[in-house]
Amino acid sequence: MKPDANPDESGAPTVSGTLWAGRLDVAPADELMSFTVSLPYDRLLAADDIAASHAHVRGLVRAGLLSDADGVAVAAALDATAAELATDEFAFAPGDEDIHTAIERRVTELAGTAGARLHTARSRNDQVACDLRLFVKRELAAVARGVLGLQQVLAERAAEVGEARVPAYTHLQRAQPVLLAHHLLAHGWALARDLDRLLDARRRADVSPLGAGASAGTSLPIDPDATAADLGFAARFENSLDAVSDRDFVAESLFALALAGVHLSRLGEEIVWWSSEEVRFLRLDDAWATGSSMMPQKKNPDVAELARARAGRLIGNLTGLLATLKGLPLAYNRDLQEDKEPLFDSLAQARGALVALAGLLGTASFDEARMAAAADDPFLAATDLAEVLVSRGVPFRQAHERIAGVVRAALAGEGDFAELAATEVGPEAVEVLSPGGSLARRTSPGGGGAGPVAVQRERFAARLAADAARLAALE
Ligand code: ARG
Repeated sequence: MKPDANPDESGAPTVSGTLWAGRLDVAPADELMSFTVSLPYDRLLAADDIAASHAHVRGLVRAGLLSDADGVAVAAALDATAAELATDEFAFAPGDEDIHTAIERRVTELAGTAGARLHTARSRNDQVACDLRLFVKRELAAVARGVLGLQQVLAERAAEVGEARVPAYTHLQRAQPVLLAHHLLAHGWALARDLDRLLDARRRADVSPLGAGASAGTSLPIDPDATAADLGFAARFENSLDAVSDRDFVAESLFALALAGVHLSRLGEEIVWWSSEEVRFLRLDDAWATGSSMMPQKKNPDVAELARARAGRLIGNLTGLLATLKGLPLAYNRDLQEDKEPLFDSLAQARGALVALAGLLGTASFDEARMAAAADDPFLAATDLAEVLVSRGVPFRQAHERIAGVVRAALAGEGDFAELAATEVGPEAVEVLSPGGSLARRTSPGGGGAGPVAVQRERFAARLAADAARLAALE
């Protein structure tokens, strides 16, 4: 006896029926269903599943596998199902193990026998890969827009702070003065690579697997090139086994998101450090800071800390999926269902962190006087003093040694660094050590002085405009 497992006369599975009810004697165990279902999270694919099914139906009609009338009936049922899903009126059934099953069940309830033809020449294996690629294409572009938003904030702040200066650090020790804009744009360029990587991953996701079937294609006369074009894919799959088992596009997306997350984490760490009482280069706007439940004086950078922390999740999602994929034989294996939660999580976390950091950075204020005082620390001009000697023909190694001697003498209390430097280098030292003097000499291309940074600002603006155009072209 198969109490619940048989399709009724219209071809629709009964309420607790499954898509494989014809093969197995009894309905699945409750525990099997609760362990294997993906419906709680793969509902996010609903709109893409509907879109892919519409294209599939059009393909079946073109192939003569579905009559025009049936095609119209199934398309109408898909639209009705989409409307129910969009308004939360959709009634899920116990047998709906994933969103694909749920939608096909509902379409079959609404369209009867015509609906029972929907899955002709299609498997959930090519279907889920197709849905997920449509989803990834859209979502990666959305994250890239978030990256661009944060870059725009960095560019605006860099413009606004003009020629404000700040120490560059190596080993977290003061190194040489640079423009604050140079420091801000350094984060901007890292994000430019992220944007590029996201779009690059998107490009490789832009291949339709629809028509691969369960693993080997089909004996029915379908045209995967046409459905690929219908869905806006750049190409169709080359090999059906590869098409249903390939999750490179998910892994690549997770890597691009994880590396962007690492960049946001580094930015978050600098915000935490710069806003600390010890440094005080940055003051957070009250709307973007938190307080303490116990210590009345506290103003905390929780947003920056969480942005710093989220990278851990993004890295975990990437390594988790790579571990899932490792060792999987061709072609589809149910293990692949585990691709979705890390992907959905990383996309959401990255988008959230981008928006939060843009809000925080857009409203924070820089303590330019404190930054300038730190940047004007005369020791930070030591390299420039050595370079004055080099410009007079002294070999750099000797120049380094002579200025190091001046530093040691100053540290030993033998005199003021500026005076000792003037004795060693001559009157030019006075100009080098004047406020902003060292920075004015930093003229090499791509460097942190005003001249090269003016060029850099233009190049960064051009890059943002070009990337904005790339993103607009995807809409
Ligand atoms: N929910 C499944 C997934 O995400 C759909 C594919 C199921 N295919 C199968 N042969 N059981 O991978």
